[in-house]
Amino acid sequence: MTAQTDTQAKAPTPTKKLYVKTYGCQMNVYDSERMTETLAGQGYEAVDTPDTADLVLLNTCHIREKAAEKVYSDLGRLRKLEKQRGTPMQVGVAGCVAQAEGEEIVRRMPQVDLVVGPQAYHRLPEMLDALDEGKGAQVITDFPVEDKFADLPKTRKSSGPTAFLSVQEGCDKFCAFCVVPYTRGAEYSRPAPDLLAEARRLVDSGAREITLLGQNVNAYHGKGEDGDWSLARLVRAMAEIEDLARIRYTTSHPNDMSDDLIAAHGEIDRLMPFLHLPVQSGSDKILKAMNRKHDADSYRRLIERIRAARPDIAMSGDFIVGFPGESDEDFEETLRLIRDIQYAQAFSFKYSPRPGTPAAGAEQVAEDVKVERLARVQEALLESQATFQQACVGQTMPVLLDRPGKFDGQMMGRSPYLQNVHLTVNADRRGEIVPVTITEAHRSSLAGTLAA
Ligand code: SAH
Ligand code: SF4
Ligand code: F3S
Repeated sequence: MTAQTDTQAKAPTPTKKLYVKTYGCQMNVYDSERMTETLAGQGYEAVDTPDTADLVLLNTCHIREKAAEKVYSDLGRLRKLEKQRGTPMQVGVAGCVAQAEGEEIVRRMPQVDLVVGPQAYHRLPEMLDALDEGKGAQVITDFPVEDKFADLPKTRKSSGPTAFLSVQEGCDKFCAFCVVPYTRGAEYSRPAPDLLAEARRLVDSGAREITLLGQNVNAYHGKGEDGDWSLARLVRAMAEIEDLARIRYTTSHPNDMSDDLIAAHGEIDRLMPFLHLPVQSGSDKILKAMNRKHDADSYRRLIERIRAARPDIAMSGDFIVGFPGESDEDFEETLRLIRDIQYAQAFSFKYSPRPGTPAAGAEQVAEDVKVERLARVQEALLESQATFQQACVGQTMPVLLDRPGKFDGQMMGRSPYLQNVHLTVNADRRGEIVPVTITEAHRSSLAGTLAA
């Protein structure tokens, strides 16, 4: 046990307030929870606004230009707030912008006290101590050799019926558009026994559904008692945890969808029938330029195999339009792929050149072309999403009641296909999985009634 874990075990009475704002992907949501737990050991209590916070941490995302810009405007706003209220506020930047920009953040925004990368946040306590000692702004963006996770407190609790669990971090794929291999570092899989222990702690504190996270989660190959475990093996072991009713995983790369993982979808009831499997483009020329290492037809065939194992699986994806060199014909191929696959859900983005990535220097597609293509892709995706939503009307499906609804007497839940479902049901049933007959389909939610 490390010194930090000891401090955490004593759980000091909170004397200071911490506000954490999370941008970007689910992995950042997970990291924000771990940072909050780490700082609880230093006497920090989490609050919901920055208004009275002693320490504000922005857990940032660098994936697209807009995501990174938001951080600087939020920092400007925090400086104003600190002036208005007249009491000191320490400000830290964590996450992928911290990793990518490091010292530059402090140069541009001298009010920033801490800059900490995604692989270094277990060192926040010592950084805060150094600040208290008057040592000036602290910047740590190393990719340490030691395991960050081993140094984090072992007090993980779920805040509700659904929880995230990071099992794999980093990426070795180097898609030509993407900052993740630079901000998160090389692929690393956590040992399976540690993950099973963390999952049990989450279940003991109320989680019924756990989503296993990784930038390339299906490339998971962590140490088990008997050699390296695949993601399928890990899922099978998780499915043995009593009271863990549902398992999901995200995000996957098409090239790492192994036979055993596909088979698991047909064999493990607790593995939910939803798969986020980004393809990015339907054009082989663009996929090659993106360094994706798969083509559009191999992706189509892969989905056929997955659907053969689990016919009702709901597919989700990510698309980038306007990647350098994308012609009208290339773009039409993307639309064709979207129509072929019929996604239940999907995200689409205009290509955003990211500093230091291979595609950033190439000749760019004009902005108005990107805008038009994004609108057309979104239209095609919405059409297939609406078809999927509509097909649910009349079905009765198990729904995990996970949070209060908008109105009194209403709760929100999650369908097996990751849809939001709202229904009239008593709030004390939070955490239960109940049968719900779907009565109405909306763009991003379903309405239903409790089935007898
Ligand atoms: N690890 C995941 C997700 C990476 S980031 C994966 O491999 O699929 C999430 C999504 O953001 C990507 O799938 C991609 O569609 C999008 N994205 C990443 N870099 C981008 C960029 N430079 N411009 C636009 N979209 C980008
Ligand atoms: Fe980025 Fe590609 Fe790695 Fe996904 S697989 S994180 S898109 S480099
Ligand atoms: Fe963004 Fe970093 Fe996640 S760049 S998408 S927060 S891995």
